[in-house]
Amino acid sequence: MSTPLAILQRAAELREQLNLHNYRYYVLDDPQVTDSEYDRLMRELQSLEQQFPDLIVPDSPTQRVGAQPLDGFGEVLHRMPMLSLENAFSDTEMVDFDRRVRERLGEVGEVIYTAEPKLDGLAISLRYESGLLVQAATRGDGSRGEDVTHNARTIPSVPLRLLGEDWPQVLEVRGEIYMPLAGFERLNQRARVNGEKGFANPRNAAAGSLRQLDPKITAQRPLAMYCYGFGEISGGPLAATQSESIRRLADWGLRISPEMRTVEGAAGCLDYYREIGKRRAALDYEIDGVVFKVDSLEQQQRLGFVSRAPRWAIAQKFPAQEEMTRLLAIDIQVGRTGALTPVARLEPVTVAGVTVTNATLHNEEEIRRKDIRVGDSVIIRRAGDVIPQVVRSIPEQRSTDARPFEMPQQCPVCGADVIRDADEAVVRCSGGLFCPAQRRQAIKHFAARRAMDIEGLGDKLVDQLVTLGMVETPADLFHLQLTALEGMERMGRKSAENLLAALEKSKRTSLGRFLFALGIREVGEATAQSLANHFGDLEPIMQADIDALLQVPDVGPVVAEHVFTFFRQAHNQEVIEALIRAGVRWEAIAVPDLASQRLAGKVFVITGTLSQPRDEIKQRLIALGAKVTGSVSKKTDYLIAGADAGSKLTKAETLGIAILDESGLNELLEE
Ligand code: IVH
Repeated sequence: MSTPLAILQRAAELREQLNLHNYRYYVLDDPQVTDSEYDRLMRELQSLEQQFPDLIVPDSPTQRVGAQPLDGFGEVLHRMPMLSLENAFSDTEMVDFDRRVRERLGEVGEVIYTAEPKLDGLAISLRYESGLLVQAATRGDGSRGEDVTHNARTIPSVPLRLLGEDWPQVLEVRGEIYMPLAGFERLNQRARVNGEKGFANPRNAAAGSLRQLDPKITAQRPLAMYCYGFGEISGGPLAATQSESIRRLADWGLRISPEMRTVEGAAGCLDYYREIGKRRAALDYEIDGVVFKVDSLEQQQRLGFVSRAPRWAIAQKFPAQEEMTRLLAIDIQVGRTGALTPVARLEPVTVAGVTVTNATLHNEEEIRRKDIRVGDSVIIRRAGDVIPQVVRSIPEQRSTDARPFEMPQQCPVCGADVIRDADEAVVRCSGGLFCPAQRRQAIKHFAARRAMDIEGLGDKLVDQLVTLGMVETPADLFHLQLTALEGMERMGRKSAENLLAALEKSKRTSLGRFLFALGIREVGEATAQSLANHFGDLEPIMQADIDALLQVPDVGPVVAEHVFTFFRQAHNQEVIEALIRAGVRWEAIAVPDLASQRLAGKVFVITGTLSQPRDEIKQRLIALGAKVTGSVSKKTDYLIAGADAGSKLTKAETLGIAILDESGLNELLEE
């Protein structure tokens, strides 16, 4: 049976639309349609191809994942070698490079360079013939690489077919395959959950993912690509300059770095290096430097190559973010919520210009997973302002007396038993506010600038007050006496007086600050303010059940649970009462009386895609007295169903619940 013409046309149309949406989403980062619309088109094409298998073409978006794993990688001979780059490790070396370029060219004026980040991934060469991706290969030794076509096809930013028509018959593009940081974190998180080791860094993760024999595995890895160069091109160069040639790639649907610029002379290069250096930590991928290429292709030609690297390009590297040192000990810190955190004490080492002596190890499980032992040689990583981390140990250099770490069974500060959170890898001291460490942290938090803002009550002073037993709860702060304070270390009469005045002043606060100051788990400044705005005063918050708490903007089940539990504890109730007795006060916030509102007691569920953010709709409904819940049940009064509503709509229909579309909702809100 031959495929009907209309079906052939529809399949071609679907392929084109899907390719375009894919390009908008993965290359331009600017999707035109919702995910569900994309899925719908994809399902339609899949079902057509199933009915009429002769519709299946290699560049169909349904064909990204090939069926069979390979036995091994084939070899690819690079017709044009894949070169590497010379490195500059300082400004001087960069300036020297520019001088050599000018001398060779015999130019008097400044040279124009293309500048772009040096991505930390692995190089790939893609070969397109007649606009179709026919081969993808790794760099290998520069002249022979591995055939990874089956895997490259699964990477969404690698087009299977080039857009437009004006591409050369043969086009080899070179670029970097990398793993975005968010995807890397997610991948490692998942590995952790499965008790696997995970990847040491995004580069290893990208390389390990691309070099898989089973493309189904690669397809699940969040890989991406930026193009930065060329191999063979039929008919010669695409333009007169490097930057123009690269830009043409973008017209054909290939992804290029949005950070690419042209700069003038060594000064322009150094400015660019510094600018990217500043923004490095904010990029969503790892870079280890920047690359400068002479922009004019004619000049590139004249400069030529030395052994493996072109004379017209250089990589200016950032200082290394990883160094090796010895792990001297693992100490335990107890936080405000009792969490026990292992801290690495290190033989001092300079990482990216800063001396590091401590580093975080996160938790026990992480230490075990990374097989880190006291006495080990370890790799320390410091990226931007982030707290230094122990990346991994080097077991090959391990001495026989290196000891595995064990989490203590008792809190090292108060001796109380430690308990393991059911759903977290976190171990906590069960001592609560009886544990001096937690008390100390709780009081520091209470006094902090963004909480009660008690000026002059610094960390050192809190440590003393707690150690001397003068303060056990935040309320005790307000009973401190001048004579007792005067006698303390580094405390004169004047500063004692100032502190008492600051304490007095802090009593007049706002409900939001007070709630934040209480240090309820997971209740940050914004959540505290939301609670305050929603309930208006402390009493209704203390009385609120979980359901009532869930009506507050950005309060989910976890936060609701923490708030509810906090106010059920006698100790917390006592401290709050003592604080109020001591004179802590705030203005109540006027909140509308929900019971008298038009939608009082009505239960709403929102689903599907709407033209306004869901949370906004939720807030408007709540302001009218309604309740908004997450799932449809017999108690639901209305379902607000946007575009592409799914199972909730079906369920509401079955239960005979009133269904409103967006215009129905607007009428209801404006009534
Ligand atoms: S150009 C002819 N540009 O760095 C020059 N390479 O150390 C060929 N790399 O193997 C490379 N970002 O894997 C170039 N913007 C960029 C790059 C880049 C990362 C990698 C590439 C290359 C290695 C050389």
